[in-house]
Amino acid sequence: MQRISMLLCYITFLHLILTSFAFAHSHNYIIHMNISAMPKVFTTQHTWYQSIVSTKLIYSYTHVINGFSANFSPKELQSLKASPGYISSVKDFNMKLYTTHSPHFLGLNPNIGAWHDSESGRDVIVGLVDTGIWPESKSFNDYGTTKIPSKWKGHCDFNSSVCNKKLIGAKFFNKGLLAMYPNRITTLHSTRDTDGHGTHVSSIAAGSRVDSVSFYGYAPGTASGIAPNARVAMYKVAYEQDLLSSDVIAAIDAAISDGVDVLSLSLGTDEGRLPLYEDPLAVATFAAIEKGVFVSAAAGNRGPGLNTLHNGIPWVITVAAGVMDRDFQGTLTLGDGTKITGLSLYKGTFPIHNVPIVFMGLCENVEELKKVKSKIVVCEGKNGTRFYQLVYYLDEAKVLGAVFVSNDSHIEDTENRFASLIIDPKNGQVVKTYINSSSNSSIASLSFKKTVFGTKPAPTVDSYSSRGPSYNCPFVLKPDITAPGTSILAAWPANVPVKTILPYKYFSEFNLLSGTSMACPHVAGVAALLKGAHHDWTPAAIRSAIMTTSDIFDNIKKPIKIIGEDNKVGNIANPFALGAGHVNPNRAMDPGLVYDVGVQDYVNLLCALNYSQKNISVITRSSSNDCSKPSLDLNYPSVIAFFGAHNSTSRTVQEFHRTVTNVGDGKATYVARVARSKGFRVRVIPNKLVFNEKNEKRSFKLRIEVARMPKLEQVAFGYLNWMDRKHVVRSPIVATTLQLKF
Ligand SMILES: *[C@@H]1O[C@H](CO)[C@@H](O)[C@H](O)[C@H]1NC(C)=O
Ligand SMILES: *[C@@H]1O[C@H](CO)[C@@H](O)[C@H](O)[C@H]1NC(C)=O
Ligand SMILES: *[C@@H]1O[C@H](CO)[C@@H](O)[C@H](O)[C@H]1NC(C)=O
Ligand SMILES: *[C@@H]1O[C@H](CO)[C@@H](O)[C@H](O)[C@H]1NC(C)=O
Ligand SMILES: *[C@@H]1O[C@H](CO)[C@@H](O)[C@H](O)[C@H]1NC(C)=O
Ligand SMILES: *[C@@H]1O[C@H](CO)[C@@H](O)[C@H](O)[C@H]1NC(C)=O
Ligand SMILES: *[C@@H]1O[C@H](CO)[C@@H](O)[C@H](O)[C@H]1NC(C)=O
Ligand SMILES: *[C@@H]1O[C@H](CO)[C@@H](O)[C@H](O)[C@H]1NC(C)=O
Ligand SMILES: *[C@@H]1O[C@H](CO)[C@@H](O)[C@H](O)[C@H]1NC(C)=O
Repeated sequence: MQRISMLLCYITFLHLILTSFAFAHSHNYIIHMNISAMPKVFTTQHTWYQSIVSTKLIYSYTHVINGFSANFSPKELQSLKASPGYISSVKDFNMKLYTTHSPHFLGLNPNIGAWHDSESGRDVIVGLVDTGIWPESKSFNDYGTTKIPSKWKGHCDFNSSVCNKKLIGAKFFNKGLLAMYPNRITTLHSTRDTDGHGTHVSSIAAGSRVDSVSFYGYAPGTASGIAPNARVAMYKVAYEQDLLSSDVIAAIDAAISDGVDVLSLSLGTDEGRLPLYEDPLAVATFAAIEKGVFVSAAAGNRGPGLNTLHNGIPWVITVAAGVMDRDFQGTLTLGDGTKITGLSLYKGTFPIHNVPIVFMGLCENVEELKKVKSKIVVCEGKNGTRFYQLVYYLDEAKVLGAVFVSNDSHIEDTENRFASLIIDPKNGQVVKTYINSSSNSSIASLSFKKTVFGTKPAPTVDSYSSRGPSYNCPFVLKPDITAPGTSILAAWPANVPVKTILPYKYFSEFNLLSGTSMACPHVAGVAALLKGAHHDWTPAAIRSAIMTTSDIFDNIKKPIKIIGEDNKVGNIANPFALGAGHVNPNRAMDPGLVYDVGVQDYVNLLCALNYSQKNISVITRSSSNDCSKPSLDLNYPSVIAFFGAHNSTSRTVQEFHRTVTNVGDGKATYVARVARSKGFRVRVIPNKLVFNEKNEKRSFKLRIEVARMPKLEQVAFGYLNWMDRKHVVRSPIVATTLQLKF
C-alpha cells in the first residue's frame, strides 16, 4: 500500500517537473502591430499574423486591436520584436467579475417617460461579456417581441431552438484560456452559464417582464429588466475563476462585429494600476466607442477607500453601486406583545410561535446551546463580531431559532438552516430586559419574509462601491454615476444553487446579488432606452444625458449619503463615491444640453498624459496620432481640479473649457448657477448661453479658485447647473488637494 502511494507521489513529482519544463516559460501575449508595415503579399491581417506565429496564434483581432494574441516563450517573443510592424506586447492575465423592484424604484412606468418614449428599447441590442447565460430563464422569453433587427450579424451557439427574438446572440471565448492552461478540465465548450452571474446581469439590463417572482418569498413582484424589449447577446469569457484578458478582447471584438449597440462590462482587472494602453478593457472599448457602441463598466467593489476605483476609463461610463429603498425583514414578537423588527433573508417556510426564549451571551459554547436547542436563543457578539462567525455553533447545536443583537446588518448572514434575525443593540436591550424580568416564562414568536419598501433615506451609496479618483486618468472625474447594486433580484440558472449550506442546496429561478456588477447593467439598460429614443446620439451624448439629469437628493430630500462599513447611513456622498448622482432614466430622456466628445478629443487627452505615439497607437490603432493640441481638459459633464495645498506656492486658479450642444427643441436660454461649493469659488464665463436652434453648440469657461484649502488630501465639491425653464443640466465640480500618485 505504502509503495503504491510513494510511487504515485513520485509520478506526480515527475509530471510536475516535465510540465514545468514544457510550459514554465510559455505565456500568452497580446501583440500590437502597425498595419502600415504589413507586406503587400498579405491580403488580410490574419494571414500576416499566421505567417509570423503560425500555430501559436490564439486570436487575430479585427476591430479592437491591430494585432493578435499568441502563446510563446520569452525567447520567441524576443525574436518577434524584431519583426517589421511590431509595436508592443503585453502579457495576458486573469481578470475578475465584480460580484425587481429596481425599475420601479428608478421611476420607470410603461405609460410615460423612458419606457414609453423608447418602446422599452425595442430595437436596441445589449451585449454582455460575462459567465454565459441560462437561455431557458423566463427573463429571456420573447413573447410579443418583434423580429430581430436586420443589422444583427451575430449568432447563437446554443441549439437554435433555445435562442429566440429576445436572446439573439450567444458565443463563448476560451482559446486564450486553453492556450494558457491546456490541461484545465472544465466544461468549457458552451455559452451556458454554470455560475449565475451572467444570467443575473443580462436580465437586469434587458430581461423580459416576468410576473409573480420572488426569492423564497422576499422581494416579491414582477421582475423586469431596465430595457425589457431590448435584445440580449451574451459573450461568455469566464469559467469558474478563470477569465483571461485575451478572451475578453476577443469577445468585445465579436460584439462590435455582430452589431451590438450597448456593452455591459461587469468585470475588470484587479491590477487596477495599469496605464490605459495596458488595460485590456480601455484598449478594446476605444474601438467600440468609435463605432458608436455605448459602454457601461462596473467601478469595482473595493470601497470605501479613495482611489480604489477600477475601469476609470475616459470613454466609458463607470458605475458605482447604490442601495434602494427596500429592506428584508423578520419580526420577533415577545410574550408581552412587543414587536421587534429585524433584518432577515431566512428562507424557511414555518413561523415559530410562542416558544421559550433565552439569552445566551456570546453563543460560543455548543454544549450549553444544545441544552436550549428547542428555544429561541438570543446572542450578542463582541463588538465587531459578525453573525456568520456564530452560525457554526448554533448550527452544531441545532437550535430552533436565533436572534443576533448587533449593529452589523449583513443580511446574507441570516440565510441559515435555522430561523434567524438580526436586531440592533437598542432593541437588543428590550429583549434582554424582557427575558430577565419574566425569568423562566419568557416566550416569543418569529415570523419572516416581510419586504418593506420606502425605507429612508434612499438611495444611498454602498460602502463596498469603489471610490475615485481614477488611477490611470485622474483628470476625468470618476465614477460617473450610481445605480442600484445592493440586493438586486434577477434571473438565475435553474441548476446552480443560490446558496449551499451543506448538506443542503437551495435552488431558485431568481436570486438576490449585490455588487457594482449589478449596478453596471442597470446603466446599460438605461442607455438602451436612450438609444431607442434618440438613434442619433453618440455614446458621449448618452453618457452626458445620464449624468447631468441624475438625482443628488434622496427620498427625504437631503443630499444622498453613503453607507459606512458598519452598515449605517453615514456622511453625504461626494462625487468620488456617487459620481454625478443616482441615475434617473425618465429625466435622461430630455437633458436639454449635452457635453459631447469626439474621438480626437480623447486622443488630445492621451497626448497630454504624455503617452508615446506607440502607446497611443495601441489604443487608437492609427499609425500616427495628431498630438498638436494635447489637453487634459476633456469636454466632460463633470470637472475635477487638483490643487497643491493653499499655503504652498502652487497655482490657486484653474480654468476649464466646456462646449454644450442644445438637444432640446429649438430656441433656449440657459443661465449658470453654482451650488454648494464650500472651500472654492467658481466663475462661469459667460454665465448665460443663448441657443437659436436645435443642435447648436455654445462654449463657456469655468474658473475655479481655491479660497481655503490649507491641508493636503482634502476634497471639496459643488455643482454647476445650467438652467432654462424646463431643464437643469447639472455637473459635479471637485476641487481637491489629493496628491496624485500618477
Ligand atoms: C441540442 O439538442 C439536442 C437534442 O435536443 C441535445 O441532444 C443536445 O445535447 C443539445 N446541445 C446543446 C449544446 O444544448
Ligand atoms: C466598536 O468598534 C468600532 C470600530 O472597531 C468602534 O469605533 C466603536 O467605538 C466600538 N464600539 C463599542 C461599543 O465598543
Ligand atoms: C452601535 O451603534 C450605536 C450608534 O451608531 C453606537 O452607539 C453603539 O456603540 C454601537 N454598538 C456596538 C456594540 O458597536
Ligand atoms: C438581569 O437582571 C439581573 C438582576 O437585576 C442583572 O444583574 C443582569 O445584568 C440582568 N441581565 C441582563 C442580560 O439584562
Ligand atoms: C428556572 O429554571 C431553572 C432550571 O430549569 C431552575 O433551576 C430555576 O429554579 C427556575 N427559576 C424560576 C424562577 O422558576
Ligand atoms: C507631461 O509632461 C510635461 C512636460 O514634462 C509635464 O509638465 C506634465 O505635467 C506631464 N503631464 C502629466 C499628466 O504627467
Ligand atoms: C509604451 O511606451 C513605452 C515608451 O515608448 C514603451 O516602452 C512601451 O513598450 C509602450 N507600451 C505599450 C503597451 O505600447
Ligand atoms: C507605422 O508604420 C508607418 C510606416 O511604416 C510609420 O510611419 C509609423 O510611424 C508607424 N507607427 C508606429 C506607431 O509605429
Ligand atoms: C499649510 O499650513 C498649515 C498650517 O500652518 C500646515 O499644517 C500645513 O502642513 C501647510 N501645508 C503645506 C502643504 O505646507
